[in-house]
Amino acid sequence: MSEVRDQNLNSDHLDLKHLDKKTEELLVKKAGEAKEYSYSPYSGFRVGAALLTKSGVIYTGCNIENAAYTPTNCAERTAVFKAVSEGEREFRAIAVCGDAEEYLAPCGVCRQVLLEFTEPEKFVVLMAAKSCEYRKMTLAELLPASFSKSDLSAASDGKN
Ligand code: THU
Repeated sequence: MSEVRDQNLNSDHLDLKHLDKKTEELLVKKAGEAKEYSYSPYSGFRVGAALLTKSGVIYTGCNIENAAYTPTNCAERTAVFKAVSEGEREFRAIAVCGDAEEYLAPCGVCRQVLLEFTEPEKFVVLMAAKSCEYRKMTLAELLPASFSKSDLSAASDGKN
């Protein structure tokens, strides 16, 4: 299994089911570590992410670029796809960390992908700067007036 059940975590006695300050800081740290695996020869912009499931497991991801550019996958989506492909569908928070001095906000595509598997009012996005300082917003704040599966089911009248 490639899930990251954090080993230090046990020794730190952290309960990952609760998103307290220590858990937030751990997520930011894990995002920073994942950034080291970034494959970004075209932009030179490394990004790492750490996604916390409701059950208290952390999945990490990095951005993976491609010579054809458009197949590039952001760090956040790498983490989400790793988790979903291993049976996880309920998420609590994500930390994102880049090399920039500024806080790194997830791109629009990643916000939409996160929306698919989260309760946007409750899902927390930790946007970290290179310094590991971070700011915090919910997904609902980052993606207001969104389109989601509930819009599809509201429109399904069986005619198409
Ligand atoms: N990138 C991410 O991994 N996450 C984001 O939220 C923003 C952008 C990556 C994609 C690309 O490899 C590089 O950063 C420059 O856009």
